[in-house]
Amino acid sequence: MSATTGRVAGRVALISGGARGMGEAHARALVAEGASVVIGDVLEEDGARVAAELGAQRALFVHLDVTDEESWRHAVAATVDRFGHLDVLINNAGIFSRGSVAEATVADWRRTIDIDLTGNFIGMHTAVEALKASGSASVINISSIAGLTGFKNRAAYSAAKWGVQGLTKTSALDLGPFGIRVNSVHPGSVRTPLTAGLQRGFGQIPLGRDAAPEEISELIVFLASDESRFITGASIAIDGGETAGNNLRQDA
Ligand SMILES: NC(=O)c1ccc[n+]([C@@H]2O[C@H](COP(=O)([O-])OP(=O)(O)OC[C@H]3O[C@@H](n4cnc5c(N)ncnc54)[C@H](O)[C@@H]3O)[C@@H](O)[C@H]2O)c1
Repeated sequence: MSATTGRVAGRVALISGGARGMGEAHARALVAEGASVVIGDVLEEDGARVAAELGAQRALFVHLDVTDEESWRHAVAATVDRFGHLDVLINNAGIFSRGSVAEATVADWRRTIDIDLTGNFIGMHTAVEALKASGSASVINISSIAGLTGFKNRAAYSAAKWGVQGLTKTSALDLGPFGIRVNSVHPGSVRTPLTAGLQRGFGQIPLGRDAAPEEISELIVFLASDESRFITGASIAIDGGETAGNNLRQDA
């Protein structure tokens, strides 16, 4: 049964990589604001647990490998079968890979582009007809601050995340006439399993700290809702000011 109250009441969202980290937080926030969610991930146990905690009435887990077109087709069909429509697509699944162009292997490059960029394309490609039927759809592509500036030691990751920004702006032009908004979100440092092993300071961040996943979810709920109905083609940084300028520069 769909909710009648909340900022995204009655809307249906498909979230790739929703089994943990930021995707899990987005699923929880959207359900709290009245949406139904489909969590797609390769992590079956985690994804099924999150969906069970959210309740079968408003959440479903589907196995989704974002690099695989058939897998996406199944996830989109399962969403429409279960909840009747698809209004919000959140292309969130992603991996991190290290290395400059000298150090990263060609295999690292291909895998990162495949998941972080091509996965995003296939998601939009396979969901577009269902999104057109929504009448007021929102696609939210998760990039990174590595898709707004250069990023040391992350050649493949940065290229993929810049690609997400370009794909987003192009798709905003192509899909606007069908009532589909497309925006990219560029988080800075966020505490998730992806970043748990990283040694990084916060001196470069004007606010002096990293973020909890739920702080990013507040932006996601806004973009998923009709509150953001005139925003499309935007690249929105949510980074504590990390890309505002050189916070470490000291001029006397
Ligand atoms: N954590 C940060 O500081 C940060 C900053 C900027 C951008 N991001 C981006 O935010 C997104 C979420 O990251 P997170 O920090 O929550 O990471 P995370 O590792 O906690 O979650 C990523 C999820 O994506 C899933 N996934 C990976 N490959 C997949 C595939 N082929 N098919 C389907 N699912 C797959 C994983 O299983 C996992 O559940 C990613 O796109 C990441 O690049 C993260």
